[in-house]
Amino acid sequence: MAAAVRVLCLSGPNLQLLGTREPEVYGKATLAEIHARLVARGRELGAEVDARQTNHEGTLVDWIGEARASGFAGILLNPGAYTHTSIAIHDALKAVSLPCVEVHLSNPDAREPFRRRSRVARACIGRVAGFGADSYALALDGLLRVLSRA
Ligand code: DQA
Repeated sequence: MAAAVRVLCLSGPNLQLLGTREPEVYGKATLAEIHARLVARGRELGAEVDARQTNHEGTLVDWIGEARASGFAGILLNPGAYTHTSIAIHDALKAVSLPCVEVHLSNPDAREPFRRRSRVARACIGRVAGFGADSYALALDGLLRVLSRA
């Protein structure tokens, strides 16, 4: 049997609080539940998903930078508020040059003006936003379609 495609899923600051964090914006699912669903969806599609969360920008930069050498074929990334500020994460994505899908539970474009700018978008192949917890699974489907074409 062919080896499973490996996908790295990274979530940034405050996403460990999903479930209780502004549920009217982000929904009621916890990050553990979202990760479990993503891993299960990955198995159905022949992919192995490694899902992690950190509140630290440098840790996201480290994980992205190591992703190719660690054998990952692509990245799902919800950078949280770093979406709107982090040139370092943008640069890490450019440097590692793996296909990355930007993921958001909410639709940042429909919220406060400061959320309308994504610093990471230029380093991503696409974006899934506004579907709550389903954004992660939808992004995985899209990423795997792109990888299967490569
Ligand atoms: C978010 C949107 C960001 O603007 C916000 O800072 C987050 C979560 C989302 O998933 O909707 O922390 O990335």
